[in-house]
Amino acid sequence: MKQFISVKDVTDINALVKQALAYKSNPLLDKTLGVNKRIGLLFLNPSLRTRLSTQVAAQNLGMEPIVFNVDKEGWALEFSEGAVMNGITVEHIKDAAPILGNYFDILCIRTFPSLQNRTDDYSEKIINQFIKYAGIPVVSLESATLHPLQSLTDIITIQESIALNKNLTNKKPKIVLSWAPHIKPIPQCVANSFSEWVNAWGEADFVITHPEGYELDTKYTHGANISYDQSAALQDADFVYIKNWSSYNDYGKVLSADASWMLTNTKLALTNNAKVMHCLPVRRNVELSDEILDGPNSIVTQEASNRVWAAQAVLANILGSLS
Ligand code: CP
Repeated sequence: MKQFISVKDVTDINALVKQALAYKSNPLLDKTLGVNKRIGLLFLNPSLRTRLSTQVAAQNLGMEPIVFNVDKEGWALEFSEGAVMNGITVEHIKDAAPILGNYFDILCIRTFPSLQNRTDDYSEKIINQFIKYAGIPVVSLESATLHPLQSLTDIITIQESIALNKNLTNKKPKIVLSWAPHIKPIPQCVANSFSEWVNAWGEADFVITHPEGYELDTKYTHGANISYDQSAALQDADFVYIKNWSSYNDYGKVLSADASWMLTNTKLALTNNAKVMHCLPVRRNVELSDEILDGPNSIVTQEASNRVWAAQAVLANILGSLS
């Protein structure tokens, strides 16, 4: 694996999941693979799970991780070609990224979308310039449009849950991605990425449900059934993935925060005793109810814990490709 930006960088999803679960059983299985290799983790936005799980994963492989909070501690970066830098930006990505490429063996980056300019966001203007100018393998810790480490984790968690549930081992699982209310504009990254990975995995009946106006880019959702009727979508679901996102068509807008879309135990009763997933952080009693998060069907903690094994499998594959 030369980089990890989307599911397109993965040749065999099931093999990667198997490798991740092998690390879960034996975290130090490849403890010397990354000895004398240094990994830079750059954050242009906040993080709890991604930052810590990727550090733990790197250390399990013997690597030295260095975290840099670019947004708080670095110079303000400029990403526009030909910019006259007489404003707030201090350093051009063309000058900064090659230096990072010399300091590190692998570069991991978290960016976020502006939610103002869809063309810029969906061209992945920021992460693509790190890839272009750093000259070393780049791992997305969430970009403007995708969150592949989260999505790999989600497939790992679904496969792990299927293996533990006799009622699910001989059937195609029904997975429902449901929009949930939120008070502010949230990126489409997790929903795009989850859709792309479930479709690429191809081993589930996949339904996406949201209010009208919250349609995602069909580039990612193609292959899923889309429903505006949440109750119909939830019927017989084995997994329900809850996530808010802002509008893609009316870009970055919150069109409604309809509280009736929040998952409750009454709605969960429509499902096949579904496991409930969320990438976290979650706003309790806005996006997801206490009764669901504190109840027996929630697997959000297991899901977040699996972030380590997803990152470890990806980093091991990239280390394997370094000369
Ligand atoms: N799910 C996730 O990416 O969490 P953090 O934003 O805390 O990293």
